[in-house]
Amino acid sequence: MAPTDAVVDSIFTHISLMITFVVSVYFVFVYLPKKPKNFPPGPTGLPILGVALSIGNRPEQTFRKWAHQYGDVIGFKVGFNYTVVLNSYENIQKAIVKYGTTFSNRPHNILFTEGLQQSGISGSDYSRDYMTMRNFAHAVLGRLGFGKSVMEAPVLEEALQLVESLGDGKVKFDNEAKMKIKFASANIIARVAFGQRFPDMADTEFLTAVDGWNNFFYLGAPAFNAAMISPSLLHLPNLRQSAMSVRKGLDEHMRLIRKRIKEHEDILDRDNPKDFIDELLIEQKKSGNKDLYTDEMIACMVRDLFGGGLETTELTLIFSCLVLANRPNIRKKLHDEIDRVLVRPKVQVGYALRDQMPYCHAVIKEVMRCRSVAPLLVPHAVHENVKFNKYEIPTGSTILVNVHAVHYDSRYWEKPEEFDPERFLDEDGKVKSTKYLMPFGIGPRSCIGRRLAEMEVFIFFLALFRKFDVIPNPQPGCQRPWVCDEAYRTGITVSPPDNTPVTLVSRYP
Ligand code: HEM
Repeated sequence: MAPTDAVVDSIFTHISLMITFVVSVYFVFVYLPKKPKNFPPGPTGLPILGVALSIGNRPEQTFRKWAHQYGDVIGFKVGFNYTVVLNSYENIQKAIVKYGTTFSNRPHNILFTEGLQQSGISGSDYSRDYMTMRNFAHAVLGRLGFGKSVMEAPVLEEALQLVESLGDGKVKFDNEAKMKIKFASANIIARVAFGQRFPDMADTEFLTAVDGWNNFFYLGAPAFNAAMISPSLLHLPNLRQSAMSVRKGLDEHMRLIRKRIKEHEDILDRDNPKDFIDELLIEQKKSGNKDLYTDEMIACMVRDLFGGGLETTELTLIFSCLVLANRPNIRKKLHDEIDRVLVRPKVQVGYALRDQMPYCHAVIKEVMRCRSVAPLLVPHAVHENVKFNKYEIPTGSTILVNVHAVHYDSRYWEKPEEFDPERFLDEDGKVKSTKYLMPFGIGPRSCIGRRLAEMEVFIFFLALFRKFDVIPNPQPGCQRPWVCDEAYRTGITVSPPDNTPVTLVSRYP
C-alpha cells in the first residue's frame, strides 16, 4: 500500500473511533437519561445504572425520603424504562381509583411475563376479561364464606391447632415456628380451593407451594427491586437467575394444581360445587367465553389464592411479635383485654369478639400501618400515555404505590413514627376507620382476599396472644428488634431476617 493510502486509512479509523465515541457518550450521557417533557421530577443517578445503586434494600423508605425532596409524585428513568412512585393519599386515590382503568396494568417484565405468566388474577393486565374473572372469583369466594361466619370454624380450627403445635414454655420464633404459621394459612386456602386441608407439614404439595412462593417473595426480592427500577437490569446474570428461580418454583406449584384440577374434573357434580376449583370448572363449562376460562387461567387463579394467602398472615404475625416484644405497656393492655373478654376457659376465640375487643383490633390496625406487608403494593403499570396532574407519564411506565409513605405521613397521622394503637380508638373507646390506612391497596386491583385476611389475622392474633407473651431476644448490638431492621429487604413483600429475634412465652405454665 502506498504511504498516502495508509495515512488515509488511519485517518478514517480515527474518525470512525471518534464518531463511535461521541455517539456512545451522547447515548449514555444524553439520550438514555433524557426524560420526556413534563415527566415527574426525581433523581437521575449514574449513567446507565440510573438510581439502581441508591435505592437500597428498603425502596419504600428511600422513595419516602426522595418525596421530601422532589414532591409526592416522583419519577426516574433507567435504561429505556420509566418508573413513577406515588407517595401521597390524594395522588394514589386519583391514580388507582379515579383513573383506575388506566393505572391498573401489571408491568411487562420477566417476573410478570414468565413468573406469573401475565395471567390469573394477580398477573393479568387490566381489561374487561380481567374484570369478569376477578368479579367471578370475588363472588365465588363470597359464596364459599370469605368474611362470613361459615368461614370462621375452619379458621379457628387452624388457629387452635397452630398454637397447640407451637408447644409450651419458651418457644423461639424460628423458621420452624414460621413454617407452622404458613401451614395453618395454607390449610385455610387449601380448604377453599380444594375442599380439604394438607395432611401434614411434610406434604409435598404444601412444601411445593411454600417453595414456589418463597422464591417469588424472598429470593425474587432483588429481582423485583431491579425490575421496579428497570426491567433491563434483569438481564444481568445474578438477577436473571433470581428471576428464573421465581418461574421455576411457580411452575412446579402449577403442575400440582393442574393435577388437582384434573381430579376435580373426574368427579365434578355440576349441581353441587364444593370448592373454588369446582366453581371454576362449572363456569368454564357453561361460560360462553371459552377463551377466558381456559385450563391454564383456572390453574393461575387457584395459584393466586396461595400467592395472596400464604405469606401475608405469617408476616403480619411476625411484625406483631416484633413490635410488641419491645412494648410491655401495650402488651399489658392487650392481655388485660384478652383476659377480661375471654374469661378462661369459657369463651372461645372468635371474629364476633372484634367489637368487644377494640384494643386488640386497634393493635392489629397499627401493626398494619407501621409494617405494611406489601409497602409498595404489587407494581402497577399504565397502559397508555397519560397526563396526570401537570405530568406526562409514558405508556408502559411502572407505577409504584407507596402506601408506606402514606402510613408515615404527618399530614394524615399525628406522630406517625410512634407505635400507638390508641390512634384507632375514638373517645368512646370504639375502633375508628380511616381511608389513610390501606395495607390491602384500593381501587380495582385491591386485594380480593381482604375479608378472609382480616378474619384470619384477628383470630390467629387472638389465639397466639391469648396463649403467649412475647419478649425480645437480646442480640449483640441490638436490644430492640423492632428498630434493628437493616437485615430486612423489600421485594413485593417485606422479608424479615431468617430467625425472628423474639421468644414466645406461655402465659399459663
Ligand atoms: C394480611 C393479609 C393480606 C394483605 C396485607 C394483602 C395485601 C394485598 C395487596 C397489597 C395486594 C395488591 C393490591 C394492588 O396491586 O393494588 C393484594 C392483591 C391480592 N391479594 Fe391480598 N393480601 C392479604 C391476604 C390475601 C389472601 C388471604 C388472599 C387470598 C385468599 C389474597 C389474594 C390476593 C389476590 C388474588 C390479589 C391480586 C389482586 C389483583 O391483582 O387484582 N390476599 N393483596
